[in-house]
Amino acid sequence: MKSAANSLGWFSALAVGTVAAGASYPAIPADKTTPSQQRIAIKGPNSVSIGWNTYQQLSNPCVQYGTSSDVLASTACSTISITYPNSRTWGNTVTLSGLSPGTTYYYKITSTNSSVEHFLSPRPAGDTGAFSFNAVIDLGVYGADGYTIKADNAKRDTIPLIDPSLNHTTIGRLANTIDDYELVVHPGDLGYADDWLLKPKNLFDGTDAYAAIVEQFYGQLAPIAGRKPYMVGPGNHEADCQEIPNSQLLCAAGQKNFTDFMNRFADLMPTSFPSHSSNDSARILANSAQQLSNPPFWYSFEYGMMHFVMIDTETDFAQAPDGPGGSAGLNSGPFGKTADQQLAFLEADLAAVDRSVTPWLIVGGHRPWYTTGGSGCGPCQSAFEPLLYKYGVDLAIFGHVHNSQRFQPVYNSTVDPKGLNDPAAPMYIVAGGAGNIEGLSSVGTKQAYNAFAYADDFSYARVSLMDKNQLQVQFIHSTTGEVLDQSTLYKSHSESFVVQ
Ligand SMILES: *[C@@H]1O[C@H](CO)[C@@H](O)[C@H](O)[C@H]1NC(C)=O
Ligand SMILES: *[C@@H]1O[C@H](CO)[C@@H](O)[C@H](O)[C@H]1NC(C)=O
Ligand SMILES: *[C@@H]1O[C@H](CO)[C@@H](O)[C@H](O)[C@H]1NC(C)=O
Ligand SMILES: *[C@@H]1O[C@H](CO)[C@@H](O)[C@H](O)[C@H]1NC(C)=O
Ligand SMILES: *[C@@H]1O[C@H](CO)[C@@H](O)[C@H](O)[C@H]1NC(C)=O
Repeated sequence: MKSAANSLGWFSALAVGTVAAGASYPAIPADKTTPSQQRIAIKGPNSVSIGWNTYQQLSNPCVQYGTSSDVLASTACSTISITYPNSRTWGNTVTLSGLSPGTTYYYKITSTNSSVEHFLSPRPAGDTGAFSFNAVIDLGVYGADGYTIKADNAKRDTIPLIDPSLNHTTIGRLANTIDDYELVVHPGDLGYADDWLLKPKNLFDGTDAYAAIVEQFYGQLAPIAGRKPYMVGPGNHEADCQEIPNSQLLCAAGQKNFTDFMNRFADLMPTSFPSHSSNDSARILANSAQQLSNPPFWYSFEYGMMHFVMIDTETDFAQAPDGPGGSAGLNSGPFGKTADQQLAFLEADLAAVDRSVTPWLIVGGHRPWYTTGGSGCGPCQSAFEPLLYKYGVDLAIFGHVHNSQRFQPVYNSTVDPKGLNDPAAPMYIVAGGAGNIEGLSSVGTKQAYNAFAYADDFSYARVSLMDKNQLQVQFIHSTTGEVLDQSTLYKSHSESFVVQ
């Protein structure tokens, strides 16, 4: 979430003056082929991408893999080993194709110092097995550069500056429940590297502090992201070196305009899947969506009963908040070749979804338009809400506001009279309470259609696709695992192509 107080914090901290400088860089391993910051993603039907960073460029990044941990008979390689100014590492990406669906694969990133990991290959589109995924938004680094206690919110846990890296309530819960879900979606506000300026020790070392937080955050997340597909979208904290409006000229090269986000995830995230529909026009539309997709900003994928679309609420639509001249002053993008590329993608992608193959249509994005405590993103609502309604999106997942919220199905701020029983309007949730240095946002004023709101402690959402008609949303207390709220959305999904 944007914090107007950031700039004030910066100036008051400057005034303090007596600070020990120093970015908290992780130690560079002696063997510079050692993989770090491992992450995997669903890349296509039967394919998974694997990303990792190294402290030297690799001429030929490779991954050995197979269905037995002792026999990694297959090898996939690429030439993708890229960096950008002011980064100490190279990002490597390799795609494993032709995987058997729903199968445990073992993999070893080729290095003189790496170990064997494993993942479950994706369910094919149309598979009707029940599964869960977690929505974890506004997460952030922990330790010397992050996740902290503020006097105004004593309920948050103390995170000591010690290993193990899993000692972060939300990451710890994701680790302890690793067999209970199949993927993680994180639509924006990932590591909060741009909040380096909230720690006085970083004040005179901002460029290194930003780079250090990036390295730490993806290292802390690796035990999760290296085993479960980690599907990301852009948030305002990915945009710039800090959130002081119109200050991007002060940002070092490589620390503005979503640079790390693009370098890290453009090759890792999918474009969109070819249609499995028997309907010719759906297949043509899906093909057109693929041409218009632009990972990691906007893209889609299919997984069992789900078609999931990631949207970019930051740039690339009218009055986009982080776009050139946008309200956030972050002056980033545009990333499409034309001004309407994202919305053209979204319309083609949604129109192509055949509910007889993937009954559940879910959208993820960063900034909500329905939120408690004041106004949501108006330009986002104008751009996206009509399309989400028209094509019968079942659930829309946002973050940005640092708490957990659930809304009755709603369109144009009017509640769907059917409630959770086969509504025409999408159900909306905010799952922005995963934990970051800025702390939680109080619930604030609720709308009549707000069904649940929680800001007492860190939490996230677990979404379970039970069968073609029932989808369960649970909000989980990160520290205790307690279910804070549970609801089941019923949809008849009686039409193959919804247009309303
Ligand atoms: C090998 O990898 C481990 C785990 O990442 C690391 O702690 C260690 O320093 C590495 N060893 C060398 C020689 O680089
Ligand atoms: C973090 O580690 C400390 C010290 O080992 C422990 O007391 C605490 O319970 C841990 N917290 C979590 C959330 O695991
Ligand atoms: C075929 O798909 C299009 C959307 O691409 C839809 O409008 C149309 O109704 C579908 N036809 C049938 C027979 O379902
Ligand atoms: C940001 O990067 C995109 C893609 O490289 C480019 O088209 C755009 O002009 C850049 N925006 C700014 C403000 O530099
Ligand atoms: C949305 O609601 C407003 C007022 O409640 C109304 O004026 C407007 O026509 C509605 N828009 C749509 C697309 O239904």
